[in-house]
Amino acid sequence: MDILKLIKKRCTTRIYLNKKIPHKIINKIIEAGVWGPSIHGFQPWKFIIVQNRKIINRFSKTILSKTQITETYANTLMTITARTIKNAGTIIAIYNSRNFTNFAHQFKKRNYTKISELSEVEAISAAIQNMLLTAETLRVGSCWTIVPLFYEQEINRILDTKDRLLAIVTLGFPAEKGRRTKRKPNNIVTKYIA
Ligand SMILES: Cc1cc2nc3c(=O)[nH]c(=O)nc-3n(C[C@H](O)[C@H](O)[C@H](O)COP(=O)(O)O)c2cc1C
Repeated sequence: MDILKLIKKRCTTRIYLNKKIPHKIINKIIEAGVWGPSIHGFQPWKFIIVQNRKIINRFSKTILSKTQITETYANTLMTITARTIKNAGTIIAIYNSRNFTNFAHQFKKRNYTKISELSEVEAISAAIQNMLLTAETLRVGSCWTIVPLFYEQEINRILDTKDRLLAIVTLGFPAEKGRRTKRKPNNIVTKYIA
């Protein structure tokens, strides 16, 4: 498929069929992620794939447990995210190993640390987009979520890791036709300098 067509076809899916995604498909999605670019080829990403219903429900419950203590806008986003996670049969917790930041640390320059951390986040974001697009080609619906970062400690305790959580991507065969959201036109977001 034409890549631009694919990019425009992908949209967030939040309701999934109760049908397990085979490891073969998940491995292809991960493969697409790791073929993304990264700073000096450091490949800072790590993935924990969870298909355990009890753990997925626990994540969803953890998110819902705090909705009462934040303001309305955040509450809505948390509720939607908790529902999406609960609905998914597969979630991928995406981590930053910080291997490049740890390497850059030896140079003892503050702006090195800032830029190295950003470069890891940018590389992992590119990996995530590769994964979402590949999922789309495999007819797997997805949702990129950041809300779980509010509960990083709880999630890391459950997943037994000390790495830095960057996102949770939910996956499932779609049970809804996702709605394409609008985009700002090019002339609003672009400036050409001749
Ligand atoms: C960095 C990032 C964080 C996001 N976090 C959440 C989230 O926490 N919860 C959620 O339900 N959706 C989340 N989304 C999904 C967006 O709401 C969604 O991509 C947006 O509404 C545009 O819709 P589309 O993906 O269908 O184009 C996130 C997307 C991105 C790129």
